[in-house]
This record gives sequence, structure tokens and C-alpha cells, in this order.
Amino acid sequence: MSAQTQIMPAPPGYEPVPARVLTDIATLPCDLYIWRGPRPVLYAMKGGDLRKVITRAQRGMSFLVREIDSDLLRGALAAALPTVLANQHVSAVERSKTAYSIVAKVLSPIFTRENALDHDGLLLTHRTIDAITLHLIDDEEMVWAMVATMQKHLATHTHAINTAVYGIVLARFMEFGSSDAIRDVARGGLLHDIGKNRIPRTVLDKPSGLDASEWQVMQTHVKSGSDMVIRALGYPQPYVHIIAEHHERCDGSGYPAGRQGSGIALDSQLVGVVDAFDALTTRRPYRAPVSAFDALHIMRVTMRGQFSDEILREFIKLLGGFNAAAAGLEGVDLTRVMRVAG
Ligand SMILES: [Fe+2]
Repeated sequence: MSAQTQIMPAPPGYEPVPARVLTDIATLPCDLYIWRGPRPVLYAMKGGDLRKVITRAQRGMSFLVREIDSDLLRGALAAALPTVLANQHVSAVERSKTAYSIVAKVLSPIFTRENALDHDGLLLTHRTIDAITLHLIDDEEMVWAMVATMQKHLATHTHAINTAVYGIVLARFMEFGSSDAIRDVARGGLLHDIGKNRIPRTVLDKPSGLDASEWQVMQTHVKSGSDMVIRALGYPQPYVHIIAEHHERCDGSGYPAGRQGSGIALDSQLVGVVDAFDALTTRRPYRAPVSAFDALHIMRVTMRGQFSDEILREFIKLLGGFNAAAAGLEGVDLTRVMRVAG
């Protein structure tokens, strides 16, 4: 299967879907279209023949679906995710690429919609990231394949997914506790910045530094994020403190409360580390991404005292093993690995 999926542009009312994400779906949940000529043309009907989809997936192509079918499609993709992850006929690298694309497709509206995170959206979010967590806990090869798959362009939902994946991998490496504890790191890591949905785009996307009042607005995302999650289910989740605390720093320089050291929950500290690392190694409108080596140097030296020495040390050890492990994975782009692993 081609690593590079051609995403076609979408006309109004439609959205593009890479064909590869549909190959393990039990039944087509909605009509699929392709865009030839002035209007999209029906290619496969809801419940129709999946073989046509697989042929197109093998060519790295994509489809269009109507936006009104988006929720149906996302539900079906989330349901297919465990099958994708468990498919032993496909290499760990290919499984990771497909799984990452599915998670991105299912979750991107959660991070882009201006409307509130609702009950069903939050349950879909849990279900999706929990499938990834379960596989990463058990399957060493998948861990490295998933890290190598991460997309490092600037998008709120890919940063969220990356933070969750690094969180799972690091919590697993540190023998953090029960699988429930790792699941909560993943959920909290995924939703840590959900409150940014509430921040005006003028502040969020400002390429230059924020002034004092804009900075105050930006800082509200930790409280509004945890409030959104509590409101969506009607009761607190065991991971909401991660959302509330992910900008607290060990030396007390963080926000919103300026807590120090052990005053910050360990899982919040862990998410704080992987959040900062992924942010530094991702391109931003105002700066190029830094290498993993430089990111870790910045976090250890320039930001000395902000992060737990122990968690940083473990993260560095973990990434140090990454090159060797990923080098054994067929299909991994080693140039990319070198960039990630520094
Ligand atoms: Fe944040």
C-alpha cells in the first residue's frame, strides 16, 4: 500500500476520506463519491462492495463523503479501529499509519468545531484513544511504529494525538501503574488542550508574542478544558486534573495555580513533559521545528527546574532506544526517525 495518500480537494458539502482508512470497516456506513467533472460522482453505495474500496486504497487514493454523513462515518471508523490494530497480516508500520489516519479522521472535528464537546463526542473520543492505548500497552513493535508514524505538522488534533501517544509510551516505559492509569494519561493527554476551542483565533493563531491580556485569555484554556469534559459527561473523570494541571511547572513558574513539585500530580507532570516536547518538535507559524536532541536540551537546560528530572531522564532513555528499535521496522523512513529521535 502506498505510504503517500492522495487527498483530493473537496467541494462544498463534502469532505475527503483516504481510502486506506476504510479497508477494515465491516460495512460501508454511507455513500462514497469521487470527484470527476463538475460534480462528485457516486462510487460505492452505503452497504456496498468493499472490494472496490480496497482497490482504490492500494493505489493510495481517497474518496469524498457528504458532510451530513460525517458522524456515521466516524462511528464506523472508530468501530473498525481494533480490527485495524489487530490485523496481523499487515506490518506494524502499515497498521500504525492506518490507525493514525483513522484517529485523526475521527477526532479532528472534536478539536476544530466551535461548538461544545458533547456527551457522544466525548465517549467517541474515549473509545478511539482507548483502542490505541490497549494495543500500545501490549505490542512493543506497535509502540515504535506509532511513534515513527506521528505527523509533525501544525494541527491541534495531531498535537493532541501525539501527546497521547507519547504519554502512553512513556507511562508504559516508566511502569506507571495499572492499565487504567495509562488509559487516563492517554485520555488526559489527548484532551489536554481541548479548552483552546474556546480561545479566539486571533489569540490562538497570533504569530508574534501575546500581550498581557491576550496571555491571560490563553491561560484560561486549562480551566475551560477541564470544565468542558466535566460538563460533557455530567461528572468528573479521573483524568480531568491532567487537563487542569498540564501547564503547572515543578519550580512554581507554571499556571494557573503556580503549584510546585509534588503538589502537581505525577500524571499531569508526565503530560506536561510530552506536551512540551511535541510542541517544540512541531513546526509553528512563527518558528521551525527543533530536533528532538535540541528539544530535550532546551527542556533540561533553558527550562531547568520546570520539569521533573526523573520523568525527563526516563523520557530521554526511552527516546534513546528509539533509533535501534525503529531501525528494525520494515517500512520506517529512517531519515524521519533520526529527526524524531535526535
Ligand atoms: Fe496547553
